[in-house]
Amino acid sequence: MESKHGDIYTAHGDDYNWNAAPGTWSPGVDFRGPTCAACHMSGAGTTLTSHDVTERLAWEIQAPLTIRPSEFKPFPAQNNWEVEREKMKVVCTQCHGKTWVDDHFVKLDQVVQEYNEVYFKPAKKMLDELYAKGLLDKTKFFDEKLEVEYYELWHHEGRRARMGAAMMAPDYAWWHGFYECKKRYNAFMEEARHLVESNQKAYTAPDFPNATGNTTKPREVFPTTQ
Ligand code: HEC
Ligand code: HEC
Repeated sequence: MESKHGDIYTAHGDDYNWNAAPGTWSPGVDFRGPTCAACHMSGAGTTLTSHDVTERLAWEIQAPLTIRPSEFKPFPAQNNWEVEREKMKVVCTQCHGKTWVDDHFVKLDQVVQEYNEVYFKPAKKMLDELYAKGLLDKTKFFDEKLEVEYYELWHHEGRRARMGAAMMAPDYAWWHGFYECKKRYNAFMEEARHLVESNQKAYTAPDFPNATGNTTKPREVFPTTQ
C-alpha cells in the first residue's frame, strides 16, 4: 500500500474490472496498477497463471541469509531462479519498458547483497563466536539479549529492508529497514565485543517465557530437515 502501485490501486481500485474472465484481465483495460495477484499469480503474456505464489521469485528474502529458492533447505524449490526472474519481468513489461524493469532488479539484487554481506554474515559470525567461546548459551534460544537482537536483525528490519526494496516501498526499505538494521547491528556488535573483551558470559533470563519446550519440527511438514 505504500508503493506507487498501491497508491494507484487505492485511487482507482474501485474502477478496476474485477469480473474479467480468467486469463483475460488486461492492464490498461481492466486495471491500471498491479495488485499482489497481478505480480504473483495472474497470467501475463508468456507467463502462465499460477496459484504457486513462490513461483516467480528469484530470491528467498524471508530467510535469515538471502539465498536462491532452490537452496532453501526446508522447502527447496525445484526450479531455476533465472527462469523465474524472467517470468516476473514479463509481468512488469506489460506496463514498463525493459530498462525500467532491469533497473529495478539490479537495485533489488544490490540490496540483497548489501544485507547479506554487510549485516547478516558478520552478525552470524559473531553469534557463532560467542557460542564457541561459551559466552552465550546455545541450549535455549531467546533467553539472552543478543539472541533476540540477532533474530530481530534478520526477521524484523532485515526482512522489511529486503521486501520493501523488492516491492517498491521506500519507507520500508529505508526507515523501517536499513536504518533500523544499522542501529540494531551497532548495538549487537557493541555488546558482543564487550563480552569478548571482558570474557564475560551474557546474562541468561532464567524464566524467559516459551524458551523451553519441544522444538522438533513436524516431520509431515519438514521431511528433509531431520
Ligand atoms: C509490482 C509487482 C508486485 C506486487 C504488486 C507485489 N509483489 Fe510481492 N514481490 C514482487 C517481487 C519482484 C518480489 C521479489 C522477487 C524475487 O525474489 O526476485 C516479491 C516478493 C514478495 C515476497 C517475498 C517472498 C520471499 O520470501 O522471497 C512476498 C511475501 C510477497 N512478495 C508478497 C506480496 C504481497 C502480499 C503483495 C500484495 C500486498 C505483493 N507481494 C505485491 C513483486 C510484487
Ligand atoms: C498494470 C501495470 C503495471 C505493472 C504490471 C507494473 N507496474 Fe510498476 N508502475 C505502474 C505505474 C502506472 C506506475 C506509476 C508511474 C508513475 O508514477 O509515473 C508504476 C511505478 C513503478 C515504479 C516507480 C516507483 C516509485 O516509487 O517511483 C517502479 C520501480 C515500478 N513500477 C516497477 C515495477 C516492476 C519491477 C514491476 C514488475 C514486478 C511492475 N512495476 C509492474 C504500472 C505497473
